[in-house]
Amino acid sequence: MHLISIDDLTAAEIENLFKLSDGFLEIASRSIKKVPTLRGRTIVNVFLEPSTRTQSSFELAGKRLSADVINIKGSSSSVSKGESLKDTILTLESYRPDIIVMRHPRVGASRMATRYTNASVVNAGDGTGEHPTQCLLDLYSLRRVFGEMQGLKVAIVGDILRSRVARSDLFGFRKMGIDVRLVGPPTLMPPGIEYWDVPIYNDLGALEDVDVIYLLRMQLERAKGKVPPVPSLREYSRVWGLSPQRVKPGQRVMHPGPINRGVELSGDLADDERSLILHQVESGLAMRMAILYQCLAGSLTEEPAA
Ligand code: NCD
Repeated sequence: MHLISIDDLTAAEIENLFKLSDGFLEIASRSIKKVPTLRGRTIVNVFLEPSTRTQSSFELAGKRLSADVINIKGSSSSVSKGESLKDTILTLESYRPDIIVMRHPRVGASRMATRYTNASVVNAGDGTGEHPTQCLLDLYSLRRVFGEMQGLKVAIVGDILRSRVARSDLFGFRKMGIDVRLVGPPTLMPPGIEYWDVPIYNDLGALEDVDVIYLLRMQLERAKGKVPPVPSLREYSRVWGLSPQRVKPGQRVMHPGPINRGVELSGDLADDERSLILHQVESGLAMRMAILYQCLAGSLTEEPAA
């Protein structure tokens, strides 16, 4: 099984991943945190764009499942010598990996990789395309905190324009019955957004009645060479930045990280007990173990070739 888009999964398959994640979350509380589930399997993490959470989470998930894990990183890989994606994948395919986890600056890169490998490919973020495993870990955090997701109200706020997280979260959250709205200045909404059939608000009044405020980072590195969509980060932060005073008592705050304290949220809100940011990271490890397991579920009874 490949996981390229959140739309590759049905609601029932997502529920199944929650159940698996519950088991893996329990393992994380033991003193010995390793299980033999994927012993003899090979996982290659190819990260051709910066990453802290996603990369460390996939690496640790593979290791805790006892797989052999290797990590290829952008600046230290032959990609920086001009090697094409096709040649990188064909080279790695010679090792007969079971899973390739890939982050790439271009939309569609993970899907393209599926053409050159027999491994399951997991999209760990493709440019402004999708980030399905972020969506799954966000859903898992929501399930852990709220139990029932049907009817939950979530506002996704900020740089929707360049956010692969916003795309995957919107589609995945709605699949699970969550009521989603997008909030931010018009210049941070992608062209064609009217076809997404989602309520859009251009002021923070839209946060009044939501259960969860999902903040996005201003992803200026993805705007290379283009006119900045906001006059300055200072102004953005003044109008759109969230502080504890702007969050109601029962509301929870989420963010995929990395956070920019003082831009999309204040430092004290990041550290506030209403913030689920580190809860999401914890959910991410268990969920990525579940995803790796599920990618190979069909072949787990086979003995690895001698
Ligand atoms: C996000 C990403 O890389 O798309 N981060 C993540 O995976 N945790 C969001 C971001 O970069 O702002």
